[in-house]
Amino acid sequence: MAKNKSAFVCQSCGAKRAKWEGRCSECGEWNTIVEEKAQPEPRKGWVSKASESGGPSKAGSMDVYNLIDTPSLDAGQRISTGMSEVDRVLGGGLVRGSYILLGGDPGIGKSTIVMQIAGALTRQSAQVLYISAEESVQQTALRARRLGLTNERVDLAAESSLDAIFDTALARKPDVLIIDSIQTVYTGDIESAPGSVSQVRECAGRLLSLAKTQAMTVILIGHVTKDGSLAGPRVLEHMVDTVLAFEGDGHQQFRLLRALKNRFGATNELGVFQMTSDGLNQVPNPSELFLEERRENRYGSAVFAAMEGSRPVLCEIQALCTSTQLPNPRRNAIGLDVNRVHMLAAVLEKHTSLSFLNRDIYANVVGGLRLTEPAVDLALVAALMSSEKQIPLPASSCFFGEVGLTGEVRGANLALERVKEAVKLGFKNIYLPASNQKYLQVQELGGSPTLHWIQELSQLQAKLGANVERKRQAPVESESGLEL
Ligand code: TYD
Ligand code: MG
Repeated sequence: MAKNKSAFVCQSCGAKRAKWEGRCSECGEWNTIVEEKAQPEPRKGWVSKASESGGPSKAGSMDVYNLIDTPSLDAGQRISTGMSEVDRVLGGGLVRGSYILLGGDPGIGKSTIVMQIAGALTRQSAQVLYISAEESVQQTALRARRLGLTNERVDLAAESSLDAIFDTALARKPDVLIIDSIQTVYTGDIESAPGSVSQVRECAGRLLSLAKTQAMTVILIGHVTKDGSLAGPRVLEHMVDTVLAFEGDGHQQFRLLRALKNRFGATNELGVFQMTSDGLNQVPNPSELFLEERRENRYGSAVFAAMEGSRPVLCEIQALCTSTQLPNPRRNAIGLDVNRVHMLAAVLEKHTSLSFLNRDIYANVVGGLRLTEPAVDLALVAALMSSEKQIPLPASSCFFGEVGLTGEVRGANLALERVKEAVKLGFKNIYLPASNQKYLQVQELGGSPTLHWIQELSQLQAKLGANVERKRQAPVESESGLEL
């Protein structure tokens, strides 16, 4: 008989080691190696159903199709979820037979959004089987009723054994199978605990075969660990077709749905929701929501015309510059890369008359958005100038453009979409890179905004009146009596 060997598996990256290590030599994480019983022989790979039109050629042990004969996954193979924000992120609806992972922090609303999707799908006469491995059927039903699902025929079950789930799914053949969550499902074939890498990998692998052979859309819910990665399974991310992240600040109502990976559509599309007492409401115009509480005539506040995928979103960038006695002034950023704040402070120091010596800088994106595109630079610079010089920015002004190290302002992509969105929301002064002038069809814009073309940071400074020396706040006296 084969020896019952055990292996040491990293719960973060799935790497296998012969002996225990304090720190995984693959991913560098500490205390993630756990002893697990050796896994059984890997199962046979899944085999796709034979196509109706154009049969496969049978030479050898595999079915081989010719590209021309293979039926494609066209629009007819997509099921609309009936929620436009979800459809947008998925690239136009659920693809039949696709395998989807939805990850997010505990309590962010994963079970809620998935139940709402399930309800919307049954309204489109799709058959949905919702399996909760965390809550009882009564709890799940209670939530569904709170969400206003009273007439929707969503099938519910509470089960955590993979074999039972597999059999039931095979027998009922729903269009969409939902598993909440993959970390609580287990199979008896593997001896390690539910949620461990081997369990998650094995369970997800078997559900993959279900999705691909039965043309059943499978949606898995996955938990996110403290450091923000999907618990354990990097392996899981490779296995699925689509990885959706559901994020948001627990203290705010906004929830953002993003596709981190999508084999059937673009990534970086954004769906915006608002958590209310009766579930998640879709937000078709996020710009209005993000700017709701903004007041004009404030120092250090600029509006940025961002692009989230194919959709323009206006949001508020705030900056605060204060005097400091620290030898290393603080640079803090929420929703932005702090390195960009460092860089822009240095560029402003060099190419304008502003100085951030002895100044702490705080930057913030209002509404919990996380911005990664460099076009945010111009808005951040405007907010910094406004805060430092204590001048409010011109009324109804909006900014976008990337700033280079030599103080030049570089063009941003999709300038027309950004300007259109700004005009739609009543912005009159738009500051944008001069290099975008060539391609922007100004005649397409209604509302006659004033476009301020910026080539250099010094131009922006002059236009905003930030080059005039103004009185700072009353000087602070240090303990030694010296003026700072
Ligand atoms: P839930 O979907 O259970 O989160 P997850 O599955 O991601 O752990 O939702 C949890 C939170 O959502 C809970 O703290 C309360 C809030 N919530 C509402 O505000 N309104 C609602 O209608 C529902 C169902 C939940
Ligand atoms: Mg849940």
